[in-house]
Amino acid sequence: MTHDTPRHIAIIMDGNGRWASARGLPRLVGHRAGADAVRRIVEAACELGVKVLTLYAFSWENWDRPAGEIRDLMDLLEEFLVRETPTLHKQAIRLRAIGRLETLPESTRACLARVGAETAAYTHMTLVLALSYGGRQELVDAARRLAEEVRQGRLRPEAIDETRLAQALYAPDLPDPDLLIRTSGEQRLSNFLLWQSSYTELYITPTYWPEFTKASLEDALAAYRQRERRFGRASALARASRG
Ligand code: FPP
Repeated sequence: MTHDTPRHIAIIMDGNGRWASARGLPRLVGHRAGADAVRRIVEAACELGVKVLTLYAFSWENWDRPAGEIRDLMDLLEEFLVRETPTLHKQAIRLRAIGRLETLPESTRACLARVGAETAAYTHMTLVLALSYGGRQELVDAARRLAEEVRQGRLRPEAIDETRLAQALYAPDLPDPDLLIRTSGEQRLSNFLLWQSSYTELYITPTYWPEFTKASLEDALAAYRQRERRFGRASALARASRG
């Protein structure tokens, strides 16, 4: 069974640092080139008919990086939001953010809130930035939310099932990712969308994020179209041989 364009693509944008050091450049230059790639890929995904694009822009673990690098990443993010707002309007792209947003610097939160509010009515594509995000942290936050409802007597523990837990995640209205792309070769999830990726197709490319282009995205989509998505069921071949 083949399928069309994935509705939701999630990307682990890895390799900015390696791209820079391979050229003898500082890491910040790599992150800048990474931000340019974000611009390119947001437009490309929109043109290719993707409905939701989730980018792992700053992980919970990234707080362990040197303070200067964290500041650079937040500055780049704010610069990106300011510069890209016209594109979001032009292409009718809604901006959202998921993660422990309360831990971000005040200026970054204000910027996200402003652009989020300005674009809230758009439906062409949703761009989700995962910021201060960790999959385990998201599940902990969901557990706390449910526990609070139980404590207040509004929820019975037996009523907690997959649907109820999924509703307590950061963006319960979004579909699970169909395709998860990781650049720069590492073969792991790194705490990204752990719950939502249960049946997601994985595509790993050695390309460093700053070099990821619309053509690279099209290669990923072509690979995705060859996959047989089974969601835990038997393969088409096995089903056919069973008659
Ligand atoms: C990985 O590079 C990438 C990140 C730490 C986060 C992604 C950040 C950007 C693409 C730049 C700005 C983002 C936006 C949304 C404008 P790395 O430093 O881990 O690379 P390395 O593993 O090669 O060191």
